[in-house]
Amino acid sequence: MGERTGTILVVEDDEPMRDLLAEELEDAGFDVDAAGGAAAGLELARARKFDLVVTDLRMPEMDGFDLIRGIMAIPDPPHVVMITAFGSIETAIRAVKLGAHDYITKPFEIEELLLVVDKALAERALQRKVARLQREVEERYGLGNVIAKSQAMREVVALVQRIAASTASVLITGESGTGKELIARGIHYNSPRAGAAFVGVNLAAVPEGLIESELFGHKKGAFTDARADKNGLFVEADGGTIFLDEIGELALPLQAKLLRVLQEHEVRPLGATKNQRVDARVVAATNKNLDVMIKDGSFREDLYYRLNVIQLDLPPLRSRPEDIVPLAEHILGQLGARQQPPRRMRLAPEAQHLLLAYNWPGNVRELMNVLERGVALCQGELISDEDLPTHVREKRPADFLGAAVARRMTLAELEREFIERVLEDEAGNKTRAAQRLGLDRKTLYRKLDEYAKSAGDMAARTPSQDGE
Ligand SMILES: Nc1ncnc2c1ncn2[C@@H]1O[C@H](COP(=O)(O)OP(=O)(O)OP(=O)(O)O)[C@@H](O)[C@H]1O
Ligand SMILES: [Mg+2]
Repeated sequence: MGERTGTILVVEDDEPMRDLLAEELEDAGFDVDAAGGAAAGLELARARKFDLVVTDLRMPEMDGFDLIRGIMAIPDPPHVVMITAFGSIETAIRAVKLGAHDYITKPFEIEELLLVVDKALAERALQRKVARLQREVEERYGLGNVIAKSQAMREVVALVQRIAASTASVLITGESGTGKELIARGIHYNSPRAGAAFVGVNLAAVPEGLIESELFGHKKGAFTDARADKNGLFVEADGGTIFLDEIGELALPLQAKLLRVLQEHEVRPLGATKNQRVDARVVAATNKNLDVMIKDGSFREDLYYRLNVIQLDLPPLRSRPEDIVPLAEHILGQLGARQQPPRRMRLAPEAQHLLLAYNWPGNVRELMNVLERGVALCQGELISDEDLPTHVREKRPADFLGAAVARRMTLAELEREFIERVLEDEAGNKTRAAQRLGLDRKTLYRKLDEYAKSAGDMAARTPSQDGE
């Protein structure tokens, strides 16, 4: 017995030849079945899952070509290796065009046949592995994994489906943890580009001095550490999608370079003398308010318009409570499946009420953390209110400064929000609000004036004309 594995069907009308092939393949370790004609072979192939069919071409009644056609119509068909007569290369080509994987020419040594068979089986195994990984990626990142019960999220998903096939740039905005990256992947994996790469880069995490070479690549010797040519992420995403996360963190000089790439569809690696064409769809995301950044000069308006051809704004979780319980159940399903042994986690009604009452400053990501902790604390399969953290039980944000940090607010934004909130709380009475804030009235008036003016400016602002 050899050490090979796999199931093989031998189809051959010549009986001594058939027996010989079957015997040799069996000796090599394969599990072999044999048929004396194409019709019988097809019947067997339909009835039983084979990895490989080795078939003669010339047979009475139905010939090998019909057999290949029939086999290719079987779901997840086996690979086919044809045995052809010497000098009939045209028939071999025809067989391959019909879907045969390979051929072997008569007369042949058994060792030659084993080589072809091993190669065909290895390739089939690889093909199946790729197909399985592709299915897994689909399941992980496809839109089927985006929980969207609320009207607002349903609209987001519908929009994603409508725009996935286009090549237009997409800007995804939304607070931290609202699902920006999930949606970015959803766009890619629902587009005709799904077979090519989805390349993500977090621009806040790459040191400023390295971003250019990271995005556009470099030539050997372009700078001290450039020991070899390196492709940039844009080139890696060629034919696919590049996800520019935290785009609001990009420094102004790099914004200018990025703008040029988006306009010209070409990149120039550092140290290169020529541009290189790239076809990468750009999806960018930010939790910053780019309008405000354009106003204070820290984000280029022309780049904004390039990125923002399609805008997807992800609503915060607190504004779509219908999603909370379905999301929690989805997340618990995933968490439970990962337990050893797997647990079917459920939410007690009191726990559900608490999740609905809480305001989720950290959005879906915070919900995941709370549930992960809950699963760890919970004894059985039912998560009760006891398994939720105190701040959720008390229906207050984890800590409000933490929420401000999560929203990446500036001090000025925080001040403005606080002032406006206190004023609201004092029913618009500026004297009392100023007192409470410890400000003199004049200072409060000046600040409110500034806020009003900046709102007015934003409305009056038109896109600038300076392209570069
Ligand atoms: N609608 C949803 N359905 C299912 N899972 C979701 C949904 N929204 C978010 N998630 C999950 O929540 C987590 C956070 O989402 P994601 O990383 O996409 O958020 P983000 O907006 O990019 O956050 P950040 O700004 O912090 O980077 C991920 O694990 C994601 O799979
Ligand atoms: Mg993200």
